[in-house]
Amino acid sequence: MNRFWSKIISGISPYVPGEQPRDKKYIKLNTNENPYPPSPKVLEAIRDETSADVRLYPDPDAIALKDAIARFYQVDRSEVFVGNGSDEVLAFCFPAFFNPGDTVSFPDVTYSFFPVYSRLFGVEYETVRVAGDFSIPFDDFRSGVRGILVPNPNAPTGIAADTGEIEKLLKKLPDTLVIVDEAYVDFGACSCVPLVHKYDNLLVVQTFSKSRSLAGLRVGFAIGNKGLTEALERVKNSFNSYTIDRVAQKAAEAAIEDREYFLRTAARIMDTREYTAKELERLGFVVLPSKANFLFASHKNISAEELFIRLRQEGILVRHFKDPRIDNWLRITIGTDDDMTLLIEKLKAMMV
Ligand SMILES: Cc1ncc(COP(=O)(O)O)c(C=O)c1O
Repeated sequence: MNRFWSKIISGISPYVPGEQPRDKKYIKLNTNENPYPPSPKVLEAIRDETSADVRLYPDPDAIALKDAIARFYQVDRSEVFVGNGSDEVLAFCFPAFFNPGDTVSFPDVTYSFFPVYSRLFGVEYETVRVAGDFSIPFDDFRSGVRGILVPNPNAPTGIAADTGEIEKLLKKLPDTLVIVDEAYVDFGACSCVPLVHKYDNLLVVQTFSKSRSLAGLRVGFAIGNKGLTEALERVKNSFNSYTIDRVAQKAAEAAIEDREYFLRTAARIMDTREYTAKELERLGFVVLPSKANFLFASHKNISAEELFIRLRQEGILVRHFKDPRIDNWLRITIGTDDDMTLLIEKLKAMMV
């Protein structure tokens, strides 16, 4: 605390990102990064763009990147907004669509940035309690809230909802903006992007950080009707005109154009996930059905906190949350086959 801090900043508990360790080399299964490098075409694009031209500002409208995303999803460029990671896109949604004092709603077990953004922008929030099996009871979202935020698949559970459930919600609450955070959708879930032309109360947010291995370059995007993307542009242009640098724009463009590499690496991660889930179950873990690049697992006899600490000592980082509803669960990012084999070996040794 300091006497110059604003009231909001004095009262907020900022989001705590997963650890990026500096003390030694770990197998990092704690921040849902992709274990594979980006496509060789991305690396080539980065090399080509790394020139004296970095003295010039990037395209503030990121037109070439928006066009590449629009082509991939068969939408119009005007329906695409790009930001510095999907975190920034989600943050911009607050001043774009919600007034201070409005109420938004999201599941009680979900991406922990949502309550932080709500507080930062003076927006009230209420939560819908996820069921015992951690599924989201979509019928429990009520009318009268200004916005609903749902990750699909949800984080940190990895559970995917049927897009039919989301469509029912869009129909039931036409005056509520539904923001579907599809950070992990490419690992086996169904996207709501095809619904954006049908529902003007739908905004879909995605990222290049997970399925396209670009977490380090910070590129995310939203797809929705023109009225929604225009509001996001207004926020961006009232804040920072150049949110995505030249290298990141080119790299993301090359990433979305290399469909074959993207499909191949995502399929590999899904295969590794299924193998890991089976092995964990064999060791006595309850594992939620995941359509993401991570698993959420709880052991019958050994606490998640103990496993977290012991794995860390063994050089493997996973994520453990203190929230009492999920404090006996570990979120384990899917790494390479070798990473996961080692994880299983280490866990097996802890079971005896
Ligand atoms: C549910 C969810 N949404 C959004 C993000 C943000 O991703 P990024 O800002 O890297 O695009 C994450 C990152 O872990 C996430 O788990």
